[in-house]
Amino acid sequence: MSNIQLFNADCRDILKNLPDNSVDLIVIDPPYLLENTKTGGGSKLNNSLQNIFDKLEENNLTNGFDMRILNELVRVNKKINMYLFCNKAQLPMLMSYFVNGKKCSFDLIKYHKTNAAPTFSNKYNSDTEYVLYVRKGGYCKPACYEDASTLYQDAMNTGDKHRWGHPTVKPLPLVERLIRNSSKEGDTVLDCFLGSGTTAVACKKLNRDFIGVESNKKYFDIAINRINTKEKKNGTN
Ligand SMILES: C[S@@+](CC[C@H](N)C(=O)[O-])C[C@H]1O[C@@H](n2cnc3c(N)ncnc32)[C@H](O)[C@@H]1O
Repeated sequence: MSNIQLFNADCRDILKNLPDNSVDLIVIDPPYLLENTKTGGGSKLNNSLQNIFDKLEENNLTNGFDMRILNELVRVNKKINMYLFCNKAQLPMLMSYFVNGKKCSFDLIKYHKTNAAPTFSNKYNSDTEYVLYVRKGGYCKPACYEDASTLYQDAMNTGDKHRWGHPTVKPLPLVERLIRNSSKEGDTVLDCFLGSGTTAVACKKLNRDFIGVESNKKYFDIAINRINTKEKKNGTN
């Protein structure tokens, strides 16, 4: 049985009280850095893209995060062993911090959505999110060919978004894969941007101890409810 500790707080207040070298693996999905799409035009597609952006903005999910948190994450991590979900605008800063600054080795995992809305006017579609894996002493030991893939491809996660009421919920099978690859049973995993609790559910299934922090009370309550909900037969909790 895993030991799960959850905090409804700003993670900056919790992280400073965690001891040095106390966490085996960190998996975080902080708010992305998104430009206002300002689609205009009034077409159905434009309106729908603008609505998505407005909902994210309303929930403070478009302004990135305080990068000083990274110093605390490095301090609490036994050896740097960290997965960071991000969008393309955050990649240069994260690479600069970990790869140039901390001399970590890295992999870039792509989460590709096969049915994302099309974009026009000189842009590629916004159909890919990234998970930067950085390590210095940490490890990645996939048990099978699929787990070693740097591509996770699926239709958009709209079912989970509706079911769990969080606009940026991540696919549980992908999160499970990351945790399986870079930790073992009994290890402690930290996610200080918990959202609807996907990492907590994965840790419970995989027998990892878990520390989760979420600042928004509505999402915190969703996460608690989700963790306590019995898994569906098809495993898509
Ligand atoms: C991208 S969402 C995480 C979604 C999550 N991976 C899931 O599958 O549901 C980021 C979350 O971090 C929370 N958050 C933002 N700033 C925070 C902070 N300083 N401390 C704790 N949580 C924070 C937001 O409220 C939001 O729910």
